[in-house]
Order: sequence, then structure tokens, then C-alpha cells
Amino acid sequence: MQSTAFAEPLLKAAARDVTSDLDLSTDEVTCLLDLAGQLKADPARYAQALAGRSLSLLFEKPSLRTRVTFDLAIQQLGGHSVYTHGPIGEREPLKDVARNLDRWTQGIVARVFSQNTILELAHWSSVPVINALSDMYHPCQALADVMTIRERFGTLRGLKVAFVGDGNNVAHSLMLSAVRLGASLAVATPVGFGPNPEIVSQAEGLAAASGASLLVTNDPAEAVSGAHVVYTDVWTSMGSESEAERRRMAFSKYQVSQSLFALARPDAIFMHCLPAHRGEEVTDEVIESPRSLVFDQAENRLHAQKALLLMLVD
Ligand code: CP
Ligand code: NVA
Repeated sequence: MQSTAFAEPLLKAAARDVTSDLDLSTDEVTCLLDLAGQLKADPARYAQALAGRSLSLLFEKPSLRTRVTFDLAIQQLGGHSVYTHGPIGEREPLKDVARNLDRWTQGIVARVFSQNTILELAHWSSVPVINALSDMYHPCQALADVMTIRERFGTLRGLKVAFVGDGNNVAHSLMLSAVRLGASLAVATPVGFGPNPEIVSQAEGLAAASGASLLVTNDPAEAVSGAHVVYTDVWTSMGSESEAERRRMAFSKYQVSQSLFALARPDAIFMHCLPAHRGEEVTDEVIESPRSLVFDQAENRLHAQKALLLMLVD
């Protein structure tokens, strides 16, 4: 099968997995963002790049953006996708699922409840496995996020990015992806909802290497003050619905309102992975404001994931 020559300066190793943001090096992320920019500017050039390749899309949880953008990305690169929804590894062991799919398809994109599901698929599959959201990470989201920030400010170096809300999958991936590119991160969560300490420690290491800083606080005003980017995510993630009421109370002071957003720089942008719950983590006024880039982020999911596929799929 012809190799995806467009990815030549990038990864050459077949069957690389992206189980978390850290599976791509900082240089690879930079190359990926450059390629994503080219794909956005000239999509027709890549229309046959995945011709003859098929990918499996396995989703245990609902999705609008991730499902549609992966499906379209594969089609627009000339490939073919097969979508399944439901629990993975219930009807038969995960190791058998992986070893069936790798005989038919050249990559597996999986949205799962547990990070262990991603790791096990990756262990048993001989084709690349891409994490399309787990309880720990959302690396495809983070690629689109840093692409969107770079488009707006030209670079991440020297910027302050504030994340206000749940120290969850989206926060983890944003932390890891932004600090390694030189942006300082300030994460404000309620007590008991902070980011995973292991990921904080990894992000601190990356920040030290890039000259950026990382602040983890319970004070949203401290996080947002002077920020170039203010980012939030839902208070109750998929799978935690039974905690929604308790979370609404715990997070009530963590809403990105106009008054909180006003503490950021005058040219600050608002970001959200979507779906958004207006009146909870963000007000309608902020998400609908001209400084809200949420739909640019959503669009960039397509371009960033196309670049990722070209880098990984042989
Ligand atoms: N942001 C995001 O991943 O959206 P979906 O859950 O709709 O895929
Ligand atoms: N943290 C959210 C992100 C949705 C894209 C969730 O896991 O449901």
C-alpha cells in the first residue's frame, strides 16, 4: 500500500498510538499544527492521501464533534470509516476486538469510559489507536485548541491560558498540550475537583522545559486575571450524570460570566470544547460574544485530526 507521503517529515513509524497527549513529542505537535494549517488552506491537495485505508470508529459515549469530524476527515482524505456505538469489550474480550479490527482496518479511533480500555486496545492492536476521549484525556480536542490559540495569537509562547471548572479530561489535555508549547497555564477548580496530581506533575515538568509556568488554584479570579485565553468545560462530564446536582452546587462560583471574563486581557478569547451548558459553566453572553472562538475550535477539530491521521496511518 502506498505510504501517506504528505506526512513524510513527520512520523515514519507505523502503528504509533495516541493514547494521551504525551504520545506525541513537542516537535511532532508543532509539525502537526503546521500540517493542519496546510490541510485547512488546501484540502483538495490531500483528497487521496488515505485512499484504500479504512478506520474503525468505536464510541462508548455520545459525540457530535468528534464523530462527525473524524468521519469527514477520513472521507475527505479518500479513506473509509466504519462506526460502532456501544460498550467495547463486553461481548468479547478487548484483546479480541483489537485483533479483529487490526485485520480489517488501518486504525482505531475510540471514545471510551476508561483510559485502560484505550491502553488495552493499543496493546493488542497492530494498527494505531487514537484516544477520542477517555476519563483521563481528550488529546484530539487539545490539538484543535492549541491550533486555534496559535491561529489567533501567532504563538503560544508567553501567553497565559486560564482553565476554570472541572479538572477533568479536557483540562488535563489542555494543560499538557499548552505548557509544552510555552503557554503558562492557570487552572482554577473547586476543592476536590482538581486535576490529577500525576498529570499536574507531568505538566510541571513540561512547563519547566518550555519556560512556562503552571498554577493550580481554587480561585477563579486569580486564574483569569491577565489571561489571553479563558477556557471552560461542562461541570458534569459524560458518565458522571448522577453527580450533577452536587456538582452544580460545588461549581457555582466557577461560572465564566462577563464579570469573571472582564478580569482577563481586553483581547482575551473565550474557549470551550462543547457541548456547553449555558447558565452553568458559562453565561450565554460570554459564549455568544465576539471574543468566543468555540466554533473555530470545533472547525479545527477537522483539520487537526486530518493531520493526525496522515501522521499515524500507514
Ligand atoms: N468536544 C467534543 O469532543 O465534542 P463531542 O463530545 O460532541 O464529540
Ligand atoms: N469533559 C467532557 C468533555 C466532552 C467533550 C466529558 O467528558 O463529557
